[in-house]
Amino acid sequence: MSSRNGRDSKGRRPPALQPHVLFMPPIGDDFEESSDQDATTDALAREMLEYHVFGTELVEEERVFWYRWIAGHQISFLLWRAMCDVVWQHADEDADRPGERELDLLSACVDGYSAALLYSSTVPRDHYHADIRARMALQHPAFSGTWAPDYRPVRRLFRGKMPWQEDASCAALDEAVARNEVTHSHIADHLVPDGHSLLQKSAGAPGVSVSREKEDLYDNFFLTVRRPVSHAEFVAQLDARIADLAADLKHNGLYPNVDGRHHPVVTQQSDGVLRPLVGDILHVLDRAARLVSDLRLEEARR
Ligand code: HEM
Repeated sequence: MSSRNGRDSKGRRPPALQPHVLFMPPIGDDFEESSDQDATTDALAREMLEYHVFGTELVEEERVFWYRWIAGHQISFLLWRAMCDVVWQHADEDADRPGERELDLLSACVDGYSAALLYSSTVPRDHYHADIRARMALQHPAFSGTWAPDYRPVRRLFRGKMPWQEDASCAALDEAVARNEVTHSHIADHLVPDGHSLLQKSAGAPGVSVSREKEDLYDNFFLTVRRPVSHAEFVAQLDARIADLAADLKHNGLYPNVDGRHHPVVTQQSDGVLRPLVGDILHVLDRAARLVSDLRLEEARR
C-alpha cells in the first residue's frame, strides 16, 4: 500500500489503476474509415515484459482487483472483436479458410484472452464473493458471460464449429482454443468452487436468448460504450490497456500481497497447459496486440 506521499516503500509512485471507458463499434459494424492508420502507439514502447509472480508491496484490495476485473474484461472484448474481422470474412460454408497470418492472429487472440482471464481472476476468492460477484448480482441477478455482445460472433470458433476448423492448418488454433477452455473452467472452479454461475443460480434457465437490454447491462457494467471507432483508435485502446496492465504487474506482481498473503490461481497441481501462462501474460498479450495492429495495416496497404 502506498504511504502518505503516494509512494511505495521503494519510493516509486504506484500505478493509478483507474478503469477507463472502452469505446467499441456497435455489434456487426465495421471499423470507421480513418486517415490515422499509421498512428504510433504504446506497442513500440513495450519492451520490458517481465514481472514478479508474487508481489511484495501491500495492495489496496478493492482498488486493484476491481481494476483488474474491468480491465481484464475490456481486453477480452477487444481481442474478441479483433477476431471477428477474420471470422466474418471466412464464415460461409464455401468460404476459403483463413491464411497463415489470419490463423496466427486468431491463435494469438485466443491465447491473449486466456491471459486476460488469468489476470482478472487473481482476486482473492473471499473478495470476489464479497465485492465483485455481489456488484455483478446487483447489476442483474442472472448476470452472465453469455451476455457479452462481442463474444457472440466468435462463439462458433470457440466451439470448433467454423467450416474450416478441422483442417490440419488449424492445429495451433485448436490447441489455443483447448487451452482457453481449460483456463476458463480452471478460474471458474477456483473462484466459485461450488460450480454455480449467477445465471445458473438465478431463476432464469441457461440457454434463454440474450436480449438487447441484457447486452447493454453487460456493456454498461464493464464501462463499454458503443459508437463508431476507427481501427487506429481500437488498437490505441488495446495498447493503452496492455501498458497499464504491464505497470500493474510490475508494481504488484501477478499475485499481489494482500495483508501479507498471496492468492495464487495456478499452482504446481494445476493442469500443465496453464503453468506457462503464469510468467508469460505480457508476452502473450504483446504478440496478440502486434498482430492485430499489423494485419490491419497490411490490409490497408493492399
Ligand atoms: C474472469 C472473467 C470471465 C470471463 C471474461 C468469462 C467469459 C465468459 C463467456 C464469454 C461465457 C459465454 C460462453 C458461451 O456462450 O459459450 C461464459 C460462460 C460461463 N462462465 Fe465465464 N467468464 C469469466 C469468469 C467466470 C467465473 C469466475 C465463473 C464462475 C462460476 C464463470 C462461469 C461461467 C459459466 C458456468 C458459464 C456458462 C454459462 C453460465 O452459466 O453463465 N465464468 N463466461
